[in-house]
Amino acid sequence: MELLIPSEQATTGHPVPDASLKEISFFHASEGKPLATPWQVAMTRADYMTQFELPSGMVLDCACGSGIQLAAYASRLKRPALGIELDHDRAIATCLNLNTIARRFSTYGQGWHRRSIVVAGDGTASEEISLIAGFENNSIALLMLDPARPRNSRTHDLDEMQPNLSSVFSAWKPYLASTEKGPCIVLDLSPRLTQELRDGVEAIVESFWPGIDKTWIWMSRGGGRVDRLELWLGGVATPDVTKRFVRLSRTFAGDDAVIEQQEITQSNRHGLQSARRNEWVTILDAALVESGLADAWLHEQLSNVSDIRWAESSPRRPRIHHNGPLKDESHPFVVASGRVVDVLDVALDEANIDAIVAVALENDISAMTIRCGVDAGLQPRLQGSIDRQMRNRQGRRKAFLTRHTTSNHLLLCAQYPQNSDT
Ligand SMILES: C[S@@+](CC[C@H](N)C(=O)[O-])C[C@H]1O[C@@H](n2cnc3c(N)ncnc32)[C@H](O)[C@@H]1O
Repeated sequence: MELLIPSEQATTGHPVPDASLKEISFFHASEGKPLATPWQVAMTRADYMTQFELPSGMVLDCACGSGIQLAAYASRLKRPALGIELDHDRAIATCLNLNTIARRFSTYGQGWHRRSIVVAGDGTASEEISLIAGFENNSIALLMLDPARPRNSRTHDLDEMQPNLSSVFSAWKPYLASTEKGPCIVLDLSPRLTQELRDGVEAIVESFWPGIDKTWIWMSRGGGRVDRLELWLGGVATPDVTKRFVRLSRTFAGDDAVIEQQEITQSNRHGLQSARRNEWVTILDAALVESGLADAWLHEQLSNVSDIRWAESSPRRPRIHHNGPLKDESHPFVVASGRVVDVLDVALDEANIDAIVAVALENDISAMTIRCGVDAGLQPRLQGSIDRQMRNRQGRRKAFLTRHTTSNHLLLCAQYPQNSDT
């Protein structure tokens, strides 16, 4: 075990640009780059954290990797960082990255940065670390953990986390400062955790801090994928908010789209029996649906949620049918929204594509995007044929094509708003 002081570390290796913000470069060692938290994600969390009143003390990351998330929290919260990393070279990379961020915010050698330390060692060896670093009980304002996981895990089993939750909690519990709502803890977990495994995480947490507040946060950078899943506990949980979904903006420091669930409400989901002309069809962000927050968001968007019919077609393109428009059809959670202008009883293939385009032209359509499952090799050929035939035609509306799940009919939907990308 070795205690490292960030300002005393000589620079080694070459920094590489961050995936989310090219103008900033970080050091990585021992193949730590793919494990590192992108700066946009790290800063979004750190900004969100500023609304909570943390007790005084350090920000502890007991498996800090390259230290990107730690540097974001420490610099934004102006708290000294305590990073612990098993891999010695990565521990040094953390020091260098803390220096980079301190320079970026003009705080190098001052305040939080001067008192930050990094330990190359085991993140569960709390007693030894407290002795060499010279701190006492209640010295940790925030505990965060982003454990290592096997690369190609199928099960995402909780025992695969390195270090694991129980050993981290029992090691650090005596050192955590408390708020009225208990200690402040953030767990960065696998985005693929099932409900059963999430229940398992909650059970471990409950065994240490019974009744503690919990807010689950899903984060997506688009493409229908859940990229991050976290559990915020105690002093950094939002009372009564059990779930939060954040769709990060495409650009750094742009506006994120957020939906929260106030209490556990499971709306009854009606299946889709038939598709009709003039009804509305919306394809939703798959990550929003995966987080379980689609119903909460639809309550905000539709005056009458009871008329929603769910087309359980493909998890990649979750689709609802409804009777009136959404309040905001260009919301970041919407992949496409529109009104059924025609129902076609033909297969979507090369033999029928000319006829399908002819129907679109009759409906005043100028561009049409395929938004239903088609064989990966066929899809570009069909879309190419549509685009070629529609080029230079006089239609005024954009559209998308989807497929009714049970009848297999194609639904030609005029898209709203018309100025959005198809
Ligand atoms: C997913 S990475 C953390 C990435 C970090 N959040 C960042 O922004 O760069 C997890 C790290 O945990 C470290 N680790 C695994 N077991 C550990 C242990 N018992 N003590 C300390 N670190 C450990 C691994 O070496 C790895 O670097």
